[in-house]
Amino acid sequence: MSGGIDRTGEAVENRYVPKVAVLISGRGSNLAAIADAIADGTLRATIVVVISNRADAPGLDFARTRGIETRVIGHKEFGSRDAFDAALVDAVRAREATLVCLAGFMRRLGPGFCAAFPNAILNIHPSLLPAFPGEHAQQQALDHGVKVAGATVHFVTPELDAGPIVMQASVPVEDTDTPESLAARILTQEHRLYPEAIRRLTEQSWHFEGRRVVFAHKP
Ligand code: GRF
Repeated sequence: MSGGIDRTGEAVENRYVPKVAVLISGRGSNLAAIADAIADGTLRATIVVVISNRADAPGLDFARTRGIETRVIGHKEFGSRDAFDAALVDAVRAREATLVCLAGFMRRLGPGFCAAFPNAILNIHPSLLPAFPGEHAQQQALDHGVKVAGATVHFVTPELDAGPIVMQASVPVEDTDTPESLAARILTQEHRLYPEAIRRLTEQSWHFEGRRVVFAHKP
């Protein structure tokens, strides 16, 4: 995060307005939540580009209605993950984005992409990590029988859903829940959590202690 935290993880002054690249693959409701938080003044940021690996992602239509630039970079057009990652890096750099937010982006990003934007890539995942990484997190939670589920905003590292945790929110699991009903309850929290995590990271001082993200102030 340029102007945010340096490569060694030392805390530095962190007040700047991020230029955000949002990467999606589908619906884009978290993209909408971020865009709405910017529009209503809750979050000081600019979305400089929305990139999708799928041309039919509904989130692209949302971005267009808001006048946000869109790019489709289809992973199938590339012979390797490294080549796909390199195209993503170029697209993000071309817009001088300072923060990359994965919002339902369904491709793994390799070490090359992660190294290009150190400590500046976020993801939101619909579980209380480190429980239930990967796909179908809500189904995994129901299958395991947990009584509390939730959402996590975390930094992205090459290891799936394993980077340092920025913020989490919990929801109860009801006996009658289906994967869909639990997903809907979690999603409501995601839409609050993601803009709030971006706001805290960009407006407050914070630093790493090991893999803990420590904010200077309470929310
Ligand atoms: C969300 O549940 C998010 O946590 C997960 O994928 C889903 C994306 O939903 N990574 P949307 O595209 O933001 O509506």
